[in-house]
Amino acid sequence: MGATIIDGRDFAAAVRGKVTGHVTRLASEQGIVPGLAVVLVGEDPASQVYVRSKGKATVEAGMKSVEHNLAADTSESELLALIDQLNNDSSIHGILVQLPLPEHLNEGLVVNAIDPAKDVDGFHISNVGLLGTGRKSMVPCTPLGCLMLLRNHHGSLSGLDAVVIGRSNIVGRPMVQLLIGDSCTVTVAHSRTRDLPEVVRRADVVVAAVGRPAMVQGDWLKPGATVIDVGINRVDAPERGVGKTRLVGDVDFERASRVAGAITPVPGGVGPMTIACLLANTLTACCRSNGVPEPEGLTA
Ligand code: GUN
Repeated sequence: MGATIIDGRDFAAAVRGKVTGHVTRLASEQGIVPGLAVVLVGEDPASQVYVRSKGKATVEAGMKSVEHNLAADTSESELLALIDQLNNDSSIHGILVQLPLPEHLNEGLVVNAIDPAKDVDGFHISNVGLLGTGRKSMVPCTPLGCLMLLRNHHGSLSGLDAVVIGRSNIVGRPMVQLLIGDSCTVTVAHSRTRDLPEVVRRADVVVAAVGRPAMVQGDWLKPGATVIDVGINRVDAPERGVGKTRLVGDVDFERASRVAGAITPVPGGVGPMTIACLLANTLTACCRSNGVPEPEGLTA
């Protein structure tokens, strides 16, 4: 029997609907409008697309969206001055600086200049520390989206064996903390892991976040496992015509879906959850800063 396909588009639409409902009530009952500022430095085309879609989704959710597009040669002090201005702007509850930054800018310095309470990416070192010690924090959007999909599919994750493949600060490491928080037994695998197939074979839940197309093989999986594929890799697709490409995940979807119990597709799995969680984080940050109860089910 084939795996259940976990539809991230459907679930992301439900999360966005829930956020929009809360935003509408917040505006009508308390006169509060959550605001998100996105800062882009330079003209990287992929980043421009991401920033535009974040702005569009923010407006669709009924929130205030502010975009700052800065020249590629913007100095560190100019960027820090803008962040300071946004930190002190009471109409802005979330600040996101699109990464990567141009080489001459110190990413750590810039990210850690954001007020942790407005850090909707969850990348500020204070939020990393809070998450790592099991306390309330802002949680990075992609792992939060994975957690929501897993909770929705399983109900409780308590006691499940989880393997996270990848140890990046953006996905792998926060994912580990979130799964520990939900009482999974967690193994972190990475490029130096010995006998990766054997490690993956133990897992009830596999989260693949390595950025290598179709690396995780179907026969590595425990039958019935739940597979969350975070990878978005563009590969050549000559079968579609000369020069054509397609997107694939970090998991060999075709074979894995014959063994897994449930699996996220690429595209249409984790991807749509990232923006939904950015909106959820902006609403959460707004509620916390105004002392309003935060909606349930939109954070860890
Ligand atoms: N660039 C690629 N993904 C992200 C993300 O989640 N947040 C930020 N700030 N930049 C990114």
